[in-house]
Amino acid sequence: MPFPTHRLRRLRRTPALRRMVRETTLAADHLIYPLFVVPGEGVRREIASMPGCFHLSVDQLVEESGVVADLGIPAVLLFGLPEHKDALGSGAYDPDGIVQRAMRALKAARPELVVIGDVCLCEYTSHGHCGPIADGDVDNDAALELLVRTAVTQADAGGDLVAPSDMMDGRVAAIRSALDAAGHQQVPIMSYAAKFASAFYGPFREAADSAPQFGDRRSYQMDPANRREARREIQLDVAEGADIVMVKPALGYGDVIAEARRWSPVPVACYNVSGEYAMVKAAAARGWVDERRLVLEILYGLRRAGADLIITYHALDAVRWLAEES
Ligand code: PBG
Repeated sequence: MPFPTHRLRRLRRTPALRRMVRETTLAADHLIYPLFVVPGEGVRREIASMPGCFHLSVDQLVEESGVVADLGIPAVLLFGLPEHKDALGSGAYDPDGIVQRAMRALKAARPELVVIGDVCLCEYTSHGHCGPIADGDVDNDAALELLVRTAVTQADAGGDLVAPSDMMDGRVAAIRSALDAAGHQQVPIMSYAAKFASAFYGPFREAADSAPQFGDRRSYQMDPANRREARREIQLDVAEGADIVMVKPALGYGDVIAEARRWSPVPVACYNVSGEYAMVKAAAARGWVDERRLVLEILYGLRRAGADLIITYHALDAVRWLAEES
């Protein structure tokens, strides 16, 4: 007879009691803040589909990163919008490219901040795909060569960690051996291991100007219906040398995060992507949801699912709100 002996409400009675039995932690340490760097100077332009997020020139990026670091958030993830795009995405692996320049400036100004480079070609190719095109599709092995150069130039520029998001087969192994050969044995790889072909990336493609000009990404990103395949992707990336694996998107993929946490030997990250952010912002702007409670609930939910790290555009707000709660 569980009731009346057992009354679960006893431990829910006061804030202090609830705090004592809270099973999941959420802190600045768990968050990574994505930033978009653009050419020019003094540029700070709000991204229409992602209110509160900005296109920043390098000088402004350094300022914004100061805010991130002062809040105790350990890391930023950089995306670049180059001056020119071409069929081979050469802006991605230009030693003096937009992200490489941003990394040098950031490491000089804020050496304690972990600077992560997104390694992909879609922001840099004229066709918007994540590698060079052959016969109407992305050429996997030709893409590897360019991704490797992107990762090495980022590490050369002071990038602390590289995060390949292209979903080409074999890229983690290729990047690992190239980093090692270039003397970057200590630079870890966070692979977008289980990255699904998702409509949740919509606002990002406007933010990064990376929408594919023909077709879609279903020949390289995963089918949202597949979980066993996600396990295989993650296992292969770990075998190839990934130091952290990521599940992306986050909402709607809690089962994949939970599974990954159960059997992954390496830390698990998830990416609370642009469309997830935009939905919250849009509903909050209409007064339909309480943004603050909703954001913290989402982030706790992802931590509870098993994410060690959460990449999120809500990071700055979340840390401020967490500080007010305690
Ligand atoms: C690049 C990349 C994308 C995102 C991160 N890296 C877009 C895509 O794959 O189309 C999405 C991030 C977001 O939606 O917040 N390949």
